[in-house]
Amino acid sequence: MAQRFMPTMLLGTALLLACSGGRDATTTAPPASSRRAAAAAQALPPPTLDGTVSLERVLATRRSVRRYQDRPLSLAQKGQLLWAAQGITDAERGLRTAPSAGALYGLIVYLADDSGVYRYEPHGHGLLPHVGTDIRSPLAEAGLGQKPLQHSPVIIVIAGEPERLVERYGSQAAQHYTILESAHAAQNVLLQVTAMGLGSVPIAAFDADAVGRVVKLPKGEKPLYLIPVGYPREQQAGRAPAGESTSP
Ligand SMILES: Cc1cc2nc3c(=O)[nH]c(=O)nc-3n(C[C@H](O)[C@H](O)[C@H](O)COP(=O)(O)O)c2cc1C
Repeated sequence: MAQRFMPTMLLGTALLLACSGGRDATTTAPPASSRRAAAAAQALPPPTLDGTVSLERVLATRRSVRRYQDRPLSLAQKGQLLWAAQGITDAERGLRTAPSAGALYGLIVYLADDSGVYRYEPHGHGLLPHVGTDIRSPLAEAGLGQKPLQHSPVIIVIAGEPERLVERYGSQAAQHYTILESAHAAQNVLLQVTAMGLGSVPIAAFDADAVGRVVKLPKGEKPLYLIPVGYPREQQAGRAPAGESTSP
């Protein structure tokens, strides 16, 4: 009985800590590694904080879009998408656009375009060069041949590092919470995309090891979501054309 009770108690404690805001409820400064990265990053234009479309309109019109115009996105548009995923919205406490178990922030967000791959630095809202070549074709291969990955001007890659949560929550909860956190960040991107008149689709059907190699993810980081973004080629493509979607 006592043995069966223990995991429940541990899970309960983990949940309580996750709900309580954890260390970052009182933390004011980002870690030294984040400060160094922020200093080296290319600054992005400040995000727009007042859009022109209501949240309800965005929710009512969001649709997965899998065909894009051959038209690049501006640096400001890219920055807006990254901010939606993980931007800092409370500088004093380091809190972000998406919620995080215990405010431990187990996600790393990358952006791939025709010039390479960049890592988003939430502190300082900047981009750090990560890979110097266009990876979209090999990424599409790692994504089981899904064409949106090859033909979109921009792909947001959401990776997770569950290790950041293990000390606090244990291994199983850390995996679970990191996946939940990535879904919050992904939904933010999808809604932001819709509000900007762009199109995107959340892609999770991929070979994770292959994606990790193509994106050159550091050890311990796992790809959780790929989100191609571009100007829609046709009005709200909605459903995947036959043979184009390998989604679950
Ligand atoms: C966890 C998850 C994984 C998905 N993976 C893929 C995918 O690999 N490829 C794809 O084309 N769509 C993928 N989708 C998008 C769904 O196909 C899409 O959301 C669904 O058809 C409903 O359409 P809607 O997004 O327009 O509402 C995924 C969606 C979710 C939630």
